[in-house]
Amino acid sequence: MSKLFIHGPNHLEGEIAIHGAKNSTLPLMAAALLCESRCVLHNCPNLSDVDTSLKILRHLGCRVTRSGSDVFIDPTDAGNSDIPDLLMREMRSSIIFLGAIIGRMNRATLSFPGGCELGPRPIDLHLSALRKMGVAIDEDHGCLDCSVPEEIRGAGINLSFPSVGATENIMIAASRANGVTMIGNAAREPEIVDLADFLNKCGASIRGAGEGTIVIEGVKHLHGCEHRVIPDRITAATYLAAAAITGSTLTIADVIPGHLAPVIPLFEEAGCKLDVMERKIMISAPKRLNRLKSVRTMPYPGFPTDAQAPVMAMTTLASGTSIFVENIFESRYKHVGELLRLGAGIKVEGRVAVVEGVERLSGAPVEAADLRGGAALVVAGLAAQGDTEITGLKHLDRGYENIEQRLAALGADVRRV
Ligand code: UD1
Repeated sequence: MSKLFIHGPNHLEGEIAIHGAKNSTLPLMAAALLCESRCVLHNCPNLSDVDTSLKILRHLGCRVTRSGSDVFIDPTDAGNSDIPDLLMREMRSSIIFLGAIIGRMNRATLSFPGGCELGPRPIDLHLSALRKMGVAIDEDHGCLDCSVPEEIRGAGINLSFPSVGATENIMIAASRANGVTMIGNAAREPEIVDLADFLNKCGASIRGAGEGTIVIEGVKHLHGCEHRVIPDRITAATYLAAAAITGSTLTIADVIPGHLAPVIPLFEEAGCKLDVMERKIMISAPKRLNRLKSVRTMPYPGFPTDAQAPVMAMTTLASGTSIFVENIFESRYKHVGELLRLGAGIKVEGRVAVVEGVERLSGAPVEAADLRGGAALVVAGLAAQGDTEITGLKHLDRGYENIEQRLAALGADVRRV
């Protein structure tokens, strides 16, 4: 079992380039299945979730190769329409392949994603939308059996919540459907815009991505294309939090600052100075951070739930009381118990977490229970006095490429054993 050892407190210095967005790469890889020729995706991060997606595409019959951060997907010979249970369990977001498999094969068999570290992960919105588009779905003993009795047809779909995954599955399935699909109350995340850009390059006709209503005119054929994945805004927010808690000055490069608009004001409220350039953000943090009055997670363009844990870690050493309200997922405070072991002062009541800033954190053995919770432990461990030992690295490796090497390059005392 590997562990991350952090000896603190640390001071970070220099520049860090942000890798491509995990949450864009996965739907783009799924969407490539619908194309009739090869796709090339640049800037794909080297993460275990991307490896799982490569395995899924191979299982479906695609020829897939990877060279550095370039992924080549040739879907011409794809023939299978199922995802083995093992791969579904490895990555709950495998459900993002559903719309693509149905769109390509007119059928799909996969196991229900069930619950995960963040609590229940229902897919009712995905399923009701696909049913409206002419897909017959049998749910039996945790298994989804989908078929298309006639054809996949365009439909008017109003989402009761702007689910990112449901919006993506609908966009993918609708791009080759017969007729026009209109998604009302669609998710507006930058990853949705990236998916629309990719599909449009492949010959799809999608308008309105990034806004509340997306209109997709189905086309008969999609061809392959070359596309560069957008930078990972959550990784960028995590490194901003690491700089902030350690009182450092750091340049975060290869980012789209507009995608970080929902988080930048919080770093400013904490007393950091941010210099926003075209593709870079320079952050200079004070010796001690101010508290954050209220951080409420919301769908984009609100504050992202994925940044809640790392930003909470940052406030553990701020002066005063910070309040967090988690509105997206039920079980997203698993990092709190571990932050308490480092000496943080946090109380959780339902969806609300109250963080009383303390003067110091002390290193301790802690365990990551989920991806962003693991990132929170790294952020806190960097500032804690003494040795922090983090286990549960399989979660961290789903979303952060070479985190220990990247932090070490910034001067941190971090190593993986
Ligand atoms: C995506 C991101 C994840 C991020 C989340 C919210 C990927 C691979 N993952 O996950 O990192 O935290 O967006 O920004 O892109 N819901 C339903 N029914 C459904 C679908 C969702 O009730 O059919 C609920 C969920 O339980 C959750 C909320 O809607 O409470 C948001 O989920 P959703 O936006 O779908 O998140 P994901 O696409 O799973």
